[in-house]
Amino acid sequence: MARAAIILAAGQGTRMKSATPKVMHRIAGLAMLGHVIAAAKGAGVNRIVVVTSADGEAVREFAAGTGARCVIQDKQLGTGHAAACAKDALAGFSGEVITAYGDMPLVTAATFEASFAARAKAGMAVVAFRSRSKAYGRVIARNGILERIVEYKDAGENERAIDLCNAGIMAADAKSFFRWASKLENNNAQREYYLTDVPLLAKGEGVACAVVEADEAEMMGVNSRAELGQAEAAMQKRLRAAALDAGVGMIAPETVFLAYDTKLEADVSIAPYVIFGPGVKVAAGAEIRSFSHLEGADVGRDAIVGPYARLRPGAVIGEGAVIGNFVEVKNTVVEAGAKASHLTYLGDARVGEGANIGAGTITCNYDGFDKHFTDIGAGAFIGSNSALVAPVKVGDGAFVGAGSVVTTDVEPDALAVARAPRKVIGGWAEKFRAKKRTEKGK
Ligand code: UD1
Ligand code: MG
Repeated sequence: MARAAIILAAGQGTRMKSATPKVMHRIAGLAMLGHVIAAAKGAGVNRIVVVTSADGEAVREFAAGTGARCVIQDKQLGTGHAAACAKDALAGFSGEVITAYGDMPLVTAATFEASFAARAKAGMAVVAFRSRSKAYGRVIARNGILERIVEYKDAGENERAIDLCNAGIMAADAKSFFRWASKLENNNAQREYYLTDVPLLAKGEGVACAVVEADEAEMMGVNSRAELGQAEAAMQKRLRAAALDAGVGMIAPETVFLAYDTKLEADVSIAPYVIFGPGVKVAAGAEIRSFSHLEGADVGRDAIVGPYARLRPGAVIGEGAVIGNFVEVKNTVVEAGAKASHLTYLGDARVGEGANIGAGTITCNYDGFDKHFTDIGAGAFIGSNSALVAPVKVGDGAFVGAGSVVTTDVEPDALAVARAPRKVIGGWAEKFRAKKRTEKGK
């Protein structure tokens, strides 16, 4: 059966106190909304509608990039009203639909799958989890079948004491869902159209709603900065566990921060305090040492990175290459076995196989307007504290003398030395000191 998802993301998220829309705040380097969309796709959903507010331009741009359709909810009249806004976008769709909130980044494809499965049996399904937090609506159920959901603000003493909470995921037949959603009313504490009242309308037509229980660690809704931090911690735990399980070595996993898409092969070893931004791949046998920051980088087999290295987007580190302390690499291919062991900036460059980059080498890639390319040949040796002013090419096997400023190409196997000639004045220091002593009377 065809599967669609409606993801609600039009709320202001006022509790975040941020100019950034709530669902665009990131968890492990990806907007919360992105996590929910990925989980839906993982459950075989191929039509996704994201409900946004009129000023949610950033949300729409992001959602469109994932292939989702966006609709606008002009006024935030409640979750039920928001879901109903997806009706036109799903006109003519016949199949099952799932609703979810854009602020539940820990949700998994398995939970969406379970709710579709429960819906197929019972008629409708909602997902619940155990919590005592005041943030959640309470689920009143009997023998696994829903009686009703009551928002905490609308609940009486006894209902508030119930620890079964509404996650915000609902599965239903699409056509029936929109029929029910259009009949919602707003006679409640918040004067809102509650999505949570849909099962009552279903019940009125004799359609039962199953309650699927999921783990709290997966269901938390993020409403504040503090909760964003908690969700990040939970996601990091999950990502670290998966990496360890896949054979990645980490002696202090709690200090390693991974991105949602970090790809680490078995036998990669990561020292304490390493941060991965999005888009990093590390091949087997590579070692990432402490206090390194990687983003958009590809690290080859048995390479060594760090300690204190920074790999920026487009850094490609070849097999067995070494990127040492205080080395920054951006948009640069460092070929197999090449070494930049200390204090270097390599930007918009190629470093040929086996080349050696001395400490303090800088590729001067930017003239204030454009970026230029530096090409360093295989086996070249760049002496310490050299400035390579791009565009420039150092041929295979060439040497650049320490302290050189290289502005023109160096022939293969040549030596280029570009520094002021040494001038020596014998005995100058002693004369200088004598003069100073006389002046000061010492
Ligand atoms: C909601 C549920 C509550 C549940 C909790 C789980 C309702 C009535 N309440 O409460 O039972 O326990 O989530 O986290 O559904 N949104 C819109 N348009 C609106 C209102 C909200 O798009 O008019 C979106 C928000 O952007 C958000 C989601 O819907 O992504 C949930 O809204 P939120 O205000 O966070 O609802 P809660 O009070 O957390
Ligand atoms: Mg919420």
